[in-house]
Amino acid sequence: MLDLLIYNASQVVTVRDDAKGPKVASEMLDLGVIEGGAIAIEGGKIVDVGKSDELLERYKDAYKRIDASGCTVLPGFVDAHTHLPFVGTREDEFLLRLKGVEYIEILKAGGGILNTVKKVREATKDELFKSTKINALKLLSSGVTTAEAKSGYGLNLEDEIKQLEVLRELALEGSLEIVPTFLGAHVIPPEYRSNRRAYIDLLKEVILPEVAKGKLAKFCDVFCDEGAFSLEESREILLRAKELGFGLRIHADEIAPLGGAILACQVGAKSAEHLIRVSDEGIRMMAEKKVFAVLLPGTSFSLRKPYAPARKIISAGVPVALGTDFNPGSCYCSSMEMVLQLAVLGMGMLPEEAIVASTLNSAYSLDIGDRVGSIDVGKQADIVIMSVPKYSFLFYEIGRSHVRSVIKRGRVVYEFDKPIC
Ligand code: NIG
Ligand code: FE
Repeated sequence: MLDLLIYNASQVVTVRDDAKGPKVASEMLDLGVIEGGAIAIEGGKIVDVGKSDELLERYKDAYKRIDASGCTVLPGFVDAHTHLPFVGTREDEFLLRLKGVEYIEILKAGGGILNTVKKVREATKDELFKSTKINALKLLSSGVTTAEAKSGYGLNLEDEIKQLEVLRELALEGSLEIVPTFLGAHVIPPEYRSNRRAYIDLLKEVILPEVAKGKLAKFCDVFCDEGAFSLEESREILLRAKELGFGLRIHADEIAPLGGAILACQVGAKSAEHLIRVSDEGIRMMAEKKVFAVLLPGTSFSLRKPYAPARKIISAGVPVALGTDFNPGSCYCSSMEMVLQLAVLGMGMLPEEAIVASTLNSAYSLDIGDRVGSIDVGKQADIVIMSVPKYSFLFYEIGRSHVRSVIKRGRVVYEFDKPIC
């Protein structure tokens, strides 16, 4: 007997992972749509995918059945970039930005990221856990079944570890899968403002080794930008992280074009993220070295900045992934659906490209594409059911959530209580 049969879906968008790897360029247009589709699930995994009438015939018994008539079924979204473990909000800064004060000016004046650092340091682990859990539920309710999550609001040994332990404990609850990233090199903490060298040494010699010892993070990220870490400082920290066994990610070329994308290629990073001001050479090298571009259109929208040159990046053959960048400062947006819409309507991606980038490609950018990111037999049953008749409606009908049900490892973890289809 099956655990779960989802049937009668007007579309199942499988994103089929035929090549067992990320899709690039025109491959991103291939969604592997099954009209009138069904999915059979057992032991938390997908065991069959096909036409609804065939699966209904093949599986007469299922412990649970979901009639997805009028709905579109997709792989759960994989959010490739979040700053999930935080407490508090920064709406006052948001209002200042609306009046023309720049994000970077607020940071340089000791606010911005440092504002959240203060709150995270003051919070008990329990308080941070509760707040992070709410953040995770917000992502989940927008169809995200796996999220990368960065630390970076502790900026000392104790509070960075507090953030990463919260992520580990939250992941154990099983609803949202979390891929943890250490971002101790987010900015220089206030107590090291006049001695940045000492903080970089602390990161390299104390905090990074301790995080590695506790296996608390899979990746190490650096905010390589004006007001944060220079190109050479970033290189030094990333190379040390590599030595300790971390995969590498970089906040690159977001505010100032420092050359972070090129650095990502030189140090063997998995991804360069943001890329609003990436150079042509950076794009060329990323395509050559197969470094993922993690694009974050929610941040451009929220900061009222230009979008990353998505069309150029896709045409060059760079594997592209999407993320919310959910954080209390530059992008207080937990809606992956909205991010997909901005990717298309603001950044110029096609709907098919946005879906591939936020599922299969995001999963491969986190090194978990063999397990999640598409609706293929053998993969984890991470699925989102949308109350739209075709995937095009996810972009056409904007401004309301379409999420009807979110399924993680075959278990319904979120349900909208009054589904429209
Ligand atoms: O990706 N750019 C650096 N870090 C975050 C912002 C974090 C914050 O403002 O709290 C980002 O946009
Ligand atoms: Fe970020």
